Amino acid sequence: MKPIYDEKNGMQLQLLYSRQRIADAVDRLAAEVSADYAGRELLVIVVLQGAFMFAADLVRKLTVPLNLDFVRIASYQGTESTGKPVTTMQLKSYARGRHLLVVEDIVDTGISLSALLRDLQEEGPASLRVCTLIDKHERRRADVRVDYAGIVCESGFVVGYGLDLNGDWRQLPDIYHAEPVSAGRD
Ligand code: IMP
Ligand code: MG
Repeated sequence: MKPIYDEKNGMQLQLLYSRQRIADAVDRLAAEVSADYAGRELLVIVVLQGAFMFAADLVRKLTVPLNLDFVRIASYQGTESTGKPVTTMQLKSYARGRHLLVVEDIVDTGISLSALLRDLQEEGPASLRVCTLIDKHERRRADVRVDYAGIVCESGFVVGYGLDLNGDWRQLPDIYHAEPVSAGRD
């Protein structure tokens, strides 16, 4: 597979997870979540912006009744976490007594997710779980429990299928590994 050259960001993108691999992960997650919540109703909380594509595919495969809500947390500049998550868009729904499922694109340091989970726990939900497409272990700093993980990845910065690099590449249907051009261009 030929890499994509990203001149603007000085990066090259190499295919990492194909759309088929992603679809298989989404199917498996949807089956697990649907089985675990059978007979209950979910409030699915999508963490914008990165999780929009994953969430759109996931909810279409869930067989339990659900409502959707959206939150937004920002903690990234380029490929580095600033370590200071800011919630820039709040939940609109009443969460007390409901079964909350947070849908994330990727858990990296876990800092933004742990801040969100702390806030959501204060709302007094009946339950609170996390479903992420990618669980990236290398830089984990916060102690967060990921209940459902589609793909486990050790390291690297990935883009596509909702995930971005400075706002670019969210639209790609597959997921690519992004690395500085100087590191690999021949
Ligand atoms: P954390 O607080 O470090 O866990 O960062 C979580 C958020 O950072 C994710 O929801 C993503 O939006 C973003 N992020 C972390 N790693 C990557 C990556 O490899 N590619 C694109 N975005 C990422
Ligand atoms: Mg995110």
